[in-house]
Amino acid sequence: MEKKIKWGIIGAGRIAEKFASDLKSTTYGELFAVSSTSLARAQDFALRHDAKHAFGNYEELFSVEVDVVYVATPHPFHLQHTLLCLNNGTPVLCEKPFGMEESEVNQMITTAREKKVFLMEAMWTRFLPSTLKTLEIIQSGVLGKIITLHADFGFKAIKDFEGRAYNQKLGGGALLDIGIYPIYLSLLILGYPSAIKASSIFAQTGVDETTSMLFQYDNESTALLNCTFGCDTNCEAIIYGELGKITIHTKFHESKKVTLHLKDQEPVVFDFPRDTFGYNYEADEVHACLQAGKLESEIFPLSASQKLIHLLDKTREAAKIFY
Ligand SMILES: NC(=O)c1ccc[n+]([C@@H]2O[C@H](COP(=O)([O-])OP(=O)(O)OC[C@H]3O[C@@H](n4cnc5c(N)ncnc54)[C@H](OP(=O)(O)O)[C@@H]3O)[C@@H](O)[C@H]2O)c1
Repeated sequence: MEKKIKWGIIGAGRIAEKFASDLKSTTYGELFAVSSTSLARAQDFALRHDAKHAFGNYEELFSVEVDVVYVATPHPFHLQHTLLCLNNGTPVLCEKPFGMEESEVNQMITTAREKKVFLMEAMWTRFLPSTLKTLEIIQSGVLGKIITLHADFGFKAIKDFEGRAYNQKLGGGALLDIGIYPIYLSLLILGYPSAIKASSIFAQTGVDETTSMLFQYDNESTALLNCTFGCDTNCEAIIYGELGKITIHTKFHESKKVTLHLKDQEPVVFDFPRDTFGYNYEADEVHACLQAGKLESEIFPLSASQKLIHLLDKTREAAKIFY
């Protein structure tokens, strides 16, 4: 039997809470230690999620033996906290976006390779059954050539200008926070675009509140993508091919349902019920990689993270989003 993987957490915020909850449904994962800028918050978190250790600063996490650390701080701190782990020889699953820009991601990857330590971006949607089914359908060829992909992610965010969504110092803005999901889907399905158009509406704090994107590809496909903190949108993804379409139902980035529509045929619905948030699938991939002694995932390799941050940088450039 494979051994249990002991997780540590850096940053006891909202996403850490969901991840810790999903870890309980995995076969091999256990939350072992949590570190926070507040000892009281770490202790409270540890109590709720049965972690053995709680620390009031991130460095102390390395005083106990953890097999892997989940970095769950806001994006501008991903580089610093990932390097902290890698320099301690500890494998890392770091939240998306991996870094604020390509140079940060390259630094993380170079360090992981130099130290020979496992590293992966927490692009959890790559591992969802709905994503795997979508890829399987596309690869089967039933849709023919993909002509265009439409995807959006929007919700009405609370206008707290100090909070993570709107605060520039915390890496605020719709593109990096939620636009990354439609962008990643386009990258996964259509590859890297040959032309990028993007336009943003900015909040008074200077972060993008809405960003609309139009990508074009060498094979004459397009992608029409949108993200916003201004209102609730459908949060659906539709991939249109010459012979039919696939709908990844709302909210597409955490979908439990995919429908295949082929011309003159009854739609085929694929349901993927689950009672987790969906973070267990990425955790399972980390467990499998660590148990096999791998330094990166073959399903979501570091080269995929590099392409993704490059595309985010180029989209920001087109939309004139600066930090
Ligand atoms: N995969 C997903 O579905 C998903 C969903 C939401 C967010 N995320 C990503 O996860 C990261 C965290 O998001 P979140 O929504 O969990 O944020 P959050 O609720 O604000 O939590 C972030 C935590 O980071 C720590 N932190 C360290 N330095 C900080 C600083 N200067 N300001 C604020 N917090 C600081 C704090 O924890 P302590 O004080 O306890 O150390 C804080 O609670 C972001 O990069 C985001 O993109 C991913």
